[in-house]
Amino acid sequence: MKYRLLGKTGLNVSEIGFGAWAIGGNWGEQNEKDSVDALNKAIDLGVNFIDTAAGYGNGKSEKIIAKVLRERKEEIIVATKTPPAPGPWPPTAYCRAEDRYPEKYLRENIEERLRNLDTDCIDILQLHTWTRAWNKYPKPFEILRKLKYEGKIKHIGVSTPEQDQNAVIDLMREGWVDVVQVIYNIFEQEPAAELLPTALEKNIGVIVRVVFDEGVLTGKYSPDYKFAEGDFRKNYFAGDRLERAVRRVEKIKEDIEGSGYTMPQAAVKFVLENKAVCTVITGIRNVEQAELNTAISDLPDITEDIINRLRKHAWMRANWHYGK
Ligand SMILES: NC(=O)c1ccc[n+]([C@@H]2O[C@H](COP(=O)([O-])OP(=O)(O)OC[C@H]3O[C@@H](n4cnc5c(N)ncnc54)[C@H](OP(=O)(O)O)[C@@H]3O)[C@@H](O)[C@H]2O)c1
Repeated sequence: MKYRLLGKTGLNVSEIGFGAWAIGGNWGEQNEKDSVDALNKAIDLGVNFIDTAAGYGNGKSEKIIAKVLRERKEEIIVATKTPPAPGPWPPTAYCRAEDRYPEKYLRENIEERLRNLDTDCIDILQLHTWTRAWNKYPKPFEILRKLKYEGKIKHIGVSTPEQDQNAVIDLMREGWVDVVQVIYNIFEQEPAAELLPTALEKNIGVIVRVVFDEGVLTGKYSPDYKFAEGDFRKNYFAGDRLERAVRRVEKIKEDIEGSGYTMPQAAVKFVLENKAVCTVITGIRNVEQAELNTAISDLPDITEDIINRLRKHAWMRANWHYGK
């Protein structure tokens, strides 16, 4: 496993991180033993960075992580997230920051994160979403700064709203955040235009999420694949979106032929090629995925030829919250 510096935090994080959404919920049936075994295997294989959130099974993912870490000696960095107070998701242009992230709410929510993670100080606290409507006066980050001085959190982050990821660029330029979490993959390449170069320039840590576009970029789905009851991907791939994605993946497979990479390997190596990227939090829900994904870090770097081929597969598409 190779490690990279997470921007100005000074933390050295594994290139492959553990995305802990599916072990919390919303991905169909998930056996807790599989989750615990997957976390232990990933740590055995060098993962030292885990991403979770309050919303992943209403604290379930955080509690499973705490249970595993109580038994481990390694220094593991855990990033979690506080969602906005109830209201539209993502927040609209008319939502007010003081209604969605008020101080009392933020403090209480972060106390819950500390309890679930069984710690006195959170390594990285990310606001789960944002809107550019709040960029002129991003008061929630002032509150997080206070919590940093009070010793409740070490580093401050934000996860991009997927319909407008560039909304966090001003926050990086103005110095409000230490890290950002962003969707960047073979389909979603827009961050390479401005977001990632700004992160590099400002020394902001970049956590990449959804590297497999929720699984389809692993190349394992057929167009008529049926997701299980309770799996949010029934909605994410609603209508003909799965079929259209799979058709595109078939073309990507042709383009990586002879590269020596499988689809998941090409997907992760494509992202790691960008020097702004610090860790890729692949979603992992069992031991096999822990083994396959952690092994990618030590594979030979991607060649310029394959990078250039993959760049042509960028896909501009509508936001899944609203259909296609
Ligand atoms: N708004 C936010 O802040 C936000 C939103 C989304 C995600 N995240 C974070 O980012 C992490 C990663 O994103 P994600 O989990 O949504 O999606 P992802 O990484 O694109 O896809 C993960 C899924 O792909 C499948 N998979 C993983 N490795 C595989 C392999 N080697 N071979 C075949 N299949 C494999 C697994 O699902 P199956 O086995 O079921 O197919 C796994 O759950 C999350 O866990 C979460 O921590 C944050």
